[in-house]
Amino acid sequence: MTEILAADAAGIARAAALLRAGRLVAFGTETVYGLGADATDARAVASVFEAKGRPRFNPLICHYADADAAFAHVEASDAARLLAERFWPGPLTLVLPRRAACPVAPLAGAGLDTLAVRVPAHPVARALLRAVDRPVAAPSANRSGQVSPTTAAHVLAGLGGRIAAVLDSGPCAVGVESSVLDLTGPRPFLLRPGGVSRETLEAAVGPVGLGITPAAEQSGGLRSPGLLVSHYAPSLPVRLDAAKVAGDEALLAFGPPLPGAGAVFQLSAARDTTEAAANLFSALRALDAQGTALGLRGIAAMPVPNEGLGLAINDRLQRAAAPRH
Ligand code: TXA
Ligand code: MG
Repeated sequence: MTEILAADAAGIARAAALLRAGRLVAFGTETVYGLGADATDARAVASVFEAKGRPRFNPLICHYADADAAFAHVEASDAARLLAERFWPGPLTLVLPRRAACPVAPLAGAGLDTLAVRVPAHPVARALLRAVDRPVAAPSANRSGQVSPTTAAHVLAGLGGRIAAVLDSGPCAVGVESSVLDLTGPRPFLLRPGGVSRETLEAAVGPVGLGITPAAEQSGGLRSPGLLVSHYAPSLPVRLDAAKVAGDEALLAFGPPLPGAGAVFQLSAARDTTEAAANLFSALRALDAQGTALGLRGIAAMPVPNEGLGLAINDRLQRAAAPRH
C-alpha cells in the first residue's frame, strides 16, 4: 500500500521520517513530481531504479533545501554561484564536480565524478528537504520511459503499491522538468531544456551550448547519459508538426485547433508556451487514455515555436514521437 500524505505539517513530518528510514516517497515540486530517496543511502537509491524500472546508468538529480547545502557537496564555480543566486530556488539543475567528501552514494550519480544538484522552489518540497536534512535523490516519479507525473494521481497510476508514500501538494505549476545545465566544461551546456528557458539562462551567463536533439544523441554527441531518445512516451504513437488531423486521431492543440480530430486537448488557446508547458504531461496522459478508449490510432501534435518553454516542450514531444526501444 502506498500512503497518500496531505501537504501539511504532519504529512511532511511523516514523509521525512520515511525518507530518513530509507523508504521511497514521491513529492511534488514546481516542475513535476519526484520519486525521492535519501541520496546518502545506497540501498534506498537502488530501490529508486528498481521501482522505476530505470537503467542503472542514468544518474539522478540531488535535491537540497538551499544553495549552501548543495554547494557543500559540489564545487561551485563563479557561474554556478551567479546562477544559484538568480534562479534558486527554482527549475534549474546544475551539473558540477563532486567534492571529495561528498556523502552522496555513487550509485545516485551513476558513478560519474559530477553531480546534478537542484534547489526546488515548491514550498512543500522545501519544507520536506529541510525536515529530511539530507540530500534527496529524485527522478521524475514515473515508470522509466513513461510520461512524467504532474499530479499525485499520475504518480499512483504508475507507482502505486511500489513506493511507501506520495506527498500530495496538488498539480505542478511549471509542468516540465528543470533545465539541466552542465557547468563542468569551458562554457555552459544545456543538457536538457526545461523550466528556465535558454534565453533567460543566456541573459544571465552568456552563450549556452545546446545539444539535446535525437540526432545528436544518435551520433553519440549527447553528454547526459540519461537522455534516451524515446522517453515521455504515451502508448499511442505521436505525430509531430501536424498541419491536418484525421478523424481517427487525437489532437494536441496549440492555439485554434485543427478541425476534424477524434479528440482534442488544448495546451494553450492563447499560444502561451508557459501555459502549454504546465498542461503538457496531463494532456499526453488524457489524450492517450481517451484515444485508446475511442480506438483512435495516434496523437497528432500541432507545432509549438521553439521560444521560451517551447524548446522544452518540443524536446519532450520529439522524445514522445521517437521510435520506441
Ligand atoms: O524537474 C526535475 O528535474 C525533476 C524533479 C523531480 O526535480 N527531476 C527529474 O529527474 O527530471 P530525472 O532523473 O527524471 O532527470 C534527470 C536528468 C537526466 O536526464 C539525467 O541524465 C541528467 O538529469 N543528469 C543527472 N545527473 C547528471 C550528471 N551528473 N551529468 C549529466 N546529466 C545528469
Ligand atoms: Mg524523468
